[in-house]
Amino acid sequence: MELLGQKIKLRRLVKSDADQLAYHANNPKVFANVRDFFPQPYLPENAVEFIDLIKDEAPYCTFGITTDNTVVGVIGLVPNTDVYRHIIEMGYWLGEEHWSKGYATEAIGLMTDYAFNTLNKRKIYCCVYAENTGSIRALEKNGFQKEAVLKDQVFKLGRFQDEQRMAKWNDNFQATS
Ligand SMILES: CC(C)(COP(=O)(O)OP(=O)(O)OC[C@H]1O[C@@H](n2cnc3c(N)ncnc32)[C@H](O)[C@@H]1OP(=O)(O)O)[C@@H](O)C(=O)NCCC(=O)NCCS
Repeated sequence: MELLGQKIKLRRLVKSDADQLAYHANNPKVFANVRDFFPQPYLPENAVEFIDLIKDEAPYCTFGITTDNTVVGVIGLVPNTDVYRHIIEMGYWLGEEHWSKGYATEAIGLMTDYAFNTLNKRKIYCCVYAENTGSIRALEKNGFQKEAVLKDQVFKLGRFQDEQRMAKWNDNFQATS
């Protein structure tokens, strides 16, 4: 499965992406803004494990962000269950050498369309550490709004940070069960 943008393409990750994935992920500046289950240092074997973990996802929710078919980051959706089953969380990261090229903005747009038009979700949201202005800006450029600020929600690298929930709603949502 592929989602095509102007500058980037989102596609499934395959085993041969592992070295490139680890190369970009093995960076404290990336780790500083993601959850602690993200390995650091990030080794090629961590990438192989990750690609293996997601290979049977149904529906498919995790995509490599690629330029010229080379992986430069990852974007994924995490479906919720029970009474939260119609909303979906999104997370993403890019290799530092590809920051500020508009890639996150485009990837977020493609994933939001996928969440709304293919997965038929009512809401997509992102849990951003409040100091992450680049991420908040990329979300705002895609029509996401600040939904809440959760005080001291995150304990990362030895200190508390607020979390800013950013969300976008699907007005064409078709109610199911
Ligand atoms: C946050 C991140 C995804 C942004 O990706 P990106 O591809 O650089 O973002 P874009 O190029 O689409 O930029 C979006 C906007 O944010 C701005 N921006 C990007 N990085 C910024 C920064 N560090 N500080 C302030 N503004 C920033 C850009 O200028 C752009 O705004 P503009 O078009 O008005 O100029 C990337 O820096 C990253 O992967 N960081 C580490 C992991 C992470 O934070 N993941 C997100 C967790 S919620």
